[in-house]
This record gives sequence, C-alpha cells and structure tokens, in this order.
Amino acid sequence: MILRFMVSLAMDAAFIFILVFSSMFLSTEAFQSNCFTLNCGDGAPDIRFPFWVSGRQPHYCGRPAFELSCKHNTTMIRFPSYGDLVVKSISYGDRKLQLLDPNNCVHQVFLNLNLSHTPFRYYYVVKNYTYLNCSTRLPPSFSEVSCLSGPRHHIYTVKSSLVLPESCRPVKTVAIPFSYSPYLADNSFGLGLSWSSPERDEDCEAKGGQCGLQTGCLGFSIKNLNFGDVSDKMLKILLCILTVILVMSIKIHHSKKVDMQLENENLLEVLRC
Ligand SMILES: *[C@@H]1O[C@H](CO)[C@@H](O)[C@H](O)[C@H]1NC(C)=O
Ligand SMILES: *[C@@H]1O[C@H](CO)[C@@H](O)[C@H](O)[C@H]1NC(C)=O
Ligand SMILES: *[C@@H]1O[C@H](CO)[C@@H](O)[C@H](O)[C@H]1NC(C)=O
Ligand SMILES: *[C@@H]1O[C@H](CO)[C@@H](O)[C@H](O)[C@H]1NC(C)=O
Repeated sequence: MILRFMVSLAMDAAFIFILVFSSMFLSTEAFQSNCFTLNCGDGAPDIRFPFWVSGRQPHYCGRPAFELSCKHNTTMIRFPSYGDLVVKSISYGDRKLQLLDPNNCVHQVFLNLNLSHTPFRYYYVVKNYTYLNCSTRLPPSFSEVSCLSGPRHHIYTVKSSLVLPESCRPVKTVAIPFSYSPYLADNSFGLGLSWSSPERDEDCEAKGGQCGLQTGCLGFSIKNLNFGDVSDKMLKILLCILTVILVMSIKIHHSKKVDMQLENENLLEVLRC
C-alpha cells in the first residue's frame, strides 16, 4: 500500500515537472522567435517593447495601447479620438514619440485628439488656447490657421483669456503644447508625445534588454530577453522543483485524511494554471 502510494507520487511529480518545465520553455521559445525589433521600412523607427506591430507580431510583444501598424512603409499609430497619425520617430530613452499628421494640419489634431484614456501626454508644456471661428479676417497680429479656414470663415488660435472679437465665436478651448504658440500657423511641425509605463517595464528597459509580455501561470509578466539566459533558467528549474515539492506535500498532507478521489481533484486544480 505504502509502496504503491510512493510510486504514484513519484509519477505525479515527474509528470508535473515535465509539464511545468516544458510550458515555460515553450513560451520562451515562442516569445523569442516573434518579438524581435522591427520597422516598417528603410529609415522608419525601430519598433520594440512597449510598441508592437499588429498583423506582424503577436499582441504579447507589447502593451495594448502601444499598437502600431505599417502602411506603405510608414509607421502609424491610431487614436480613437482622431484616427491615424504618422510615427516619425520613437526615442525609447526619453520616452518621446514624434508624430506627424498625415493631413498636414496639426491644429486639427489638437482640436480633436483626446489623450485622457491613453498612456500618452504632450511632451511639451501645454497651455489653454481657444479656437475661434470668425466670419471676417482679424488683423495680422492674429495668425490664421489656414488648414482649418475657408473662403468664408477664418480660424484663429488665441490665448483663452482674450476678449472675443465681434465677428468670432469660440469653437473649443484646448490645452495645446506651448511650444506651438510662436508657430501657430505652421503645420509642418511635428507633434511630440511622451508616454508613461509601469515601473516594472522601466526596470526591464533600464537593463538594456529587449522586453515583452510573457504568458505564464500568473498571467502576463514582463520579461527581459537578453537577461533570460543562465540565471533565468536556474530560477525556472528552482521554481519547478519548489512547485513539485509543494504539490507533493499537499498530496501527503491530504492523503492522511481525505480519500483518493478528493485528492486527485486538488491535484487537478493545481495543474490547471
Ligand atoms: C517599401 O519599401 C520597399 C523596400 O525599400 C520598396 O521596394 C517598396 O516599393 C516600398 N513601398 C512603398 C509603398 O513605398
Ligand atoms: C476626453 O474624454 C473624456 C472621456 O472619454 C472626457 O471626460 C473629456 O472631457 C474629454 N476631453 C476633451 C478635452 O474633450
Ligand atoms: C485649461 O482649462 C481647464 C478648464 O478650465 C483647466 O482645468 C486646466 O487646468 C487648464 N489647463 C492649463 C494647462 O492651464
Ligand atoms: C466655422 O464656421 C463655418 C461656417 O459657420 C463652418 O462651416 C465651419 O465648419 C466652422 N469651422 C470650425 C472648425 O468650427
């Protein structure tokens, strides 16, 4: 009886060991073959964690809000409040994204882009400006936003404290990057955004490695590829041994008072992760 129990215990342990170890190994392999740095074309920015390219990489290569796409060798990012913007450059060190409006009208972006439910913020200091829609032209000291104006209406951006000229009505007051104020009519200027990320991402990135999300027993976890060699493997083996010991001790503990069937159910629970 005791011998039979020991044999079954040893078999269970071996089975769990193989299961846990192979699943760790497999997910690492899959990760490494899919999450390489890539770009959309020659001279296009390097794309790596937390960014990823939908259609060319699995979603776990980056964070959901950092999804990019490649269109005609151009890198694009989509904001639900505005649409697609061109990604001109990505500085991973200072977390800065330089964007361009494909319609070449940055004020259209400022008017519509809502960053409140995104990890992005304007890189430069923002100030409130009011967009005015005027039926007549204002004096040249006001700079007209030509890409939003038409033959019968003229759009201006003014400090929100300004007393409204008679022919104008306010469209919207928005916080826009202060650095734009001297260049309000210049549409060729790029749009700088910065991003924030969870602390553990920063830890991973600080090591200079390639990071990504990895599936495991506890859901997604951050992983650094370059540092996933010897010490990481040792840690995994140690973790496997600990898991086996844990399962074995649960089994021994339960076998003292509960019947075999209940115990197998417990084991299945442990295996389910
Ligand atoms: C994208 O780049 C490749 C290689 O540089 C080039 O052959 C191709 O014509 C480009 N496609 C577009 C749409 O620009
Ligand atoms: C941005 O969106 C949030 C909710 O989605 C809303 O509460 C907020 O007023 C919006 N901001 C602007 C400037 O429209
Ligand atoms: C802009 O105005 C809004 C609403 O009045 C205010 O909550 C916000 O703090 C202002 N932002 C700046 C940068 O002054
Ligand atoms: C400005 O007003 C004109 C006419 O009233 C309208 O057609 C146009 O869409 C308005 N523009 C903006 C940006 O509100």
